[in-house]
Amino acid sequence: MGALPRFPEGFLWGTATAAYQIEGAVKEDGRGASIWDAFCAEPGRVKNGATGEVACDHYHRWPEDVALMADLGAGAYRFSVAWPRIQPEGRGPADPRGLDFYERLVDALAERGIAPVLTLYHWDLPQALEDGGGWLDRDTAHRFAEYAGLVAGRLGDRVKVWITLNEPFVHMTEGYGIGVHAPGRALLLDALPAAHHLLLGHGLAVAALRERTGGQIALTNNHSPVWPASGSAADRAAAAAFDALQNRLFADPVLLGRYPDLSAYGVTELPFVRDGDLAAISAPLDRLGVNYYSPTRIAAPRAAAAPRPGGASVLSEVEDRLEGAGLPFEDVPIEGYRTTAFGWPVVPGGLRELLLRLRDDYGDALPPILITENGCSVRDEPGRPDRERIDFLDGHLRALHQAMEEGVDVRGYFVWSLLDNFEWAEGYEQRFGLVHVDFATLERTPKASFHWLRERLAEQRVSPAPSG
Ligand code: FCB
Repeated sequence: MGALPRFPEGFLWGTATAAYQIEGAVKEDGRGASIWDAFCAEPGRVKNGATGEVACDHYHRWPEDVALMADLGAGAYRFSVAWPRIQPEGRGPADPRGLDFYERLVDALAERGIAPVLTLYHWDLPQALEDGGGWLDRDTAHRFAEYAGLVAGRLGDRVKVWITLNEPFVHMTEGYGIGVHAPGRALLLDALPAAHHLLLGHGLAVAALRERTGGQIALTNNHSPVWPASGSAADRAAAAAFDALQNRLFADPVLLGRYPDLSAYGVTELPFVRDGDLAAISAPLDRLGVNYYSPTRIAAPRAAAAPRPGGASVLSEVEDRLEGAGLPFEDVPIEGYRTTAFGWPVVPGGLRELLLRLRDDYGDALPPILITENGCSVRDEPGRPDRERIDFLDGHLRALHQAMEEGVDVRGYFVWSLLDNFEWAEGYEQRFGLVHVDFATLERTPKASFHWLRERLAEQRVSPAPSG
């Protein structure tokens, strides 16, 4: 396996986390409740009744986590700000204690030569806003822009990359479409206004950020190459319909200023879109964040679907819920590849395929890309060889390099995740970390993949605080 091909000078190497998944301290320093606190408190929502109340206790142990990052030698770190720490009720003045926490973190990163990449919204909406309709309510988009302005008012001079939203597709479908994530609403296609208000919130936040920072501004989508289950016209049409939802719904409005064709869903009008919205949504971006985990295989819906094998993926959960809902697609397993502990197929070539496709579809409208998440869950314990994760990262980094050789402009790569953490509805069962966390003692132990990556980064001669 050995050294990786050489990545360009200034390429950003990093790890990624999200506030609710690692911080804990949910009642400290005035933090308000988020939709994930409420969701976790509902019996049966999260595996084993797990919650983010303690998580990795990063809120108290962050100096140790920054030291781990420095030891790894990656020049960047992607984290998210918990909105309810800044505005406990989702509106009004900032609580300085919330801003102080992130300022200390950002300054400690800078001292170690690690560039901060800040996500404003990784799914932890203040519960008070959800009580008023959440993302189904247009006003939430304005509240989000106000919050973005408060954070940038304090940290605008120090954050290298600002990511407005993380994976709005997953937040809309899982949170509002089928209810397996917070806020647990199962509205199917009636969740579409949430998509628009997320996009509008993004656009309004971009304007608020531009006024307060010279940093780069981005949106992070999760993209997946969509493979038709066969060459039949019906399967190809089903794949195109799914593609419009997964890949285009949150990219076309942002990059092209228009919505994709949703007629396969019987949706021909979007009455919640107002004049001027698409102009705000398509404000120019400096980077597109891309999260990649695996491709998706899609077939035309069958009358009676075969029972699904165990280890269901997020997408198959979506499909199970939606069976009978009259959707124009069905996801089917991808065979012939190894799978992660989550049951997701390991397809490094899918990353190259996806990047070439984004370049071909969007051409000049595509900003330089940051791979803001890529990684895998492994059933592991400290001391194990961690071979699966090393193979996964090695394979994906080679596929990424190949796409760059073929002309795709990619400026950085972030491993999901620095630490084992609270994996949403899966609780603590899926371990994605380069660093093992013992959730009884909160002890951190770097895994073999951490040491492997540290060696690879040393070979690349990562320069601190790279530019570009
Ligand atoms: C992504 C999320 C991230 C993490 C990974 C495994 O969809 O953005 O928080 O849960 O999946």
